Amino acid sequence: MAEKMSELKKEEAAIYASPLPPHTPVLLEQTRALASVEPGDVWLDCTLGAGGHAELLLEAGAVVYAIDRDPQARALAATRLAPFGARFTPLAGDFRQARALLDAVGVAEVDGLLADVGVSSMQLDEPARGFSFRAAGPVDMRMSSEGPTALDLIDALEERDLSRLLMRYGEEPPPRARLAARAIKAWRGGPPPHDTATLAAAIAEALPRSRAQNQRRTTHPATKAFQALRVAVNDELGALDALLAALPTLLRPGGRALLISFHSLEDRAVKQAFQGYSRPTPPPRRGLPPPSEAPPPFELLHRKPLVATEAEIEANPRARTAKLRGVRRRA
Ligand SMILES: C[S@@+](CC[C@H](N)C(=O)[O-])C[C@H]1O[C@@H](n2cnc3c(N)ncnc32)[C@H](O)[C@@H]1O
Repeated sequence: MAEKMSELKKEEAAIYASPLPPHTPVLLEQTRALASVEPGDVWLDCTLGAGGHAELLLEAGAVVYAIDRDPQARALAATRLAPFGARFTPLAGDFRQARALLDAVGVAEVDGLLADVGVSSMQLDEPARGFSFRAAGPVDMRMSSEGPTALDLIDALEERDLSRLLMRYGEEPPPRARLAARAIKAWRGGPPPHDTATLAAAIAEALPRSRAQNQRRTTHPATKAFQALRVAVNDELGALDALLAALPTLLRPGGRALLISFHSLEDRAVKQAFQGYSRPTPPPRRGLPPPSEAPPPFELLHRKPLVATEAEIEANPRARTAKLRGVRRRA
């Protein structure tokens, strides 16, 4: 057991010491416009990553507290943002605990909050983190080094529950989810190596391929299954819901929240929460007056989500699915 732990520690140390491919922040211009930072404003960046968005806020004169649960990201961003001195404070933890993390540094409320949710390119592109289906790595997929890995999850779930997970978090249609779940369980029961490359190959082999996939003009067939495992391992939607629910406790009156999402499950959660905060309460029954004359607590900064330009997508294909939505708490 002790030997296994020290092996794990060594693996972890190797991950955090490895050179990092860069992460290009998405929708920078749109973020700058919606953030509308005044010098001295206090911002909370809930997803520090490589610090690209935090740098934008700092350059505009903000004081920035920034959360990440990934020690590798925090270390990288701390070096990058060191020139901003005491205006930048990294916070270790999960953004679902944003309120407690701000309390711990004595911040009662912020002028702005930004979350660019999901994984960074550093995490996706580093085979040792286990997110990549393009290279062989452990089937891990954790953003931090805590909790069960994707392999633990695969081992713990029955084929039927795994299939449900692929439908729910990967939005795979039921027939494909069932085929993929069966293939994943067969892969796990088969001969090693049980790494991300063999897992991706097993899923791809089991799924029917379209002509475009055969010509390799589309995403990898295992993309949705990998997304589903990753979202479940990190409880990404649970964390996002908790953050959205906490917005009124974090923002000062007049403060803004900007949320960048990358797939429809995330965007749906953001859209619904923002609509809920910004719509007048409906009357209890048709014909009756609304229960309160008070305006809703938030207003939308933009009716439609902001998306990347063709030029940005050309330069950074990851921006293709990015959507930015913003709300302002009423003064
Ligand atoms: C898309 S990247 C952010 C990139 C960043 N905006 C930049 O400009 O470099 C998302 C980051 O959020 C972190 N993250 C995701 N979910 C989190 C959570 N619930 N709590 C804390 N950090 C989280 C990930 O570890 C990752 O580093």
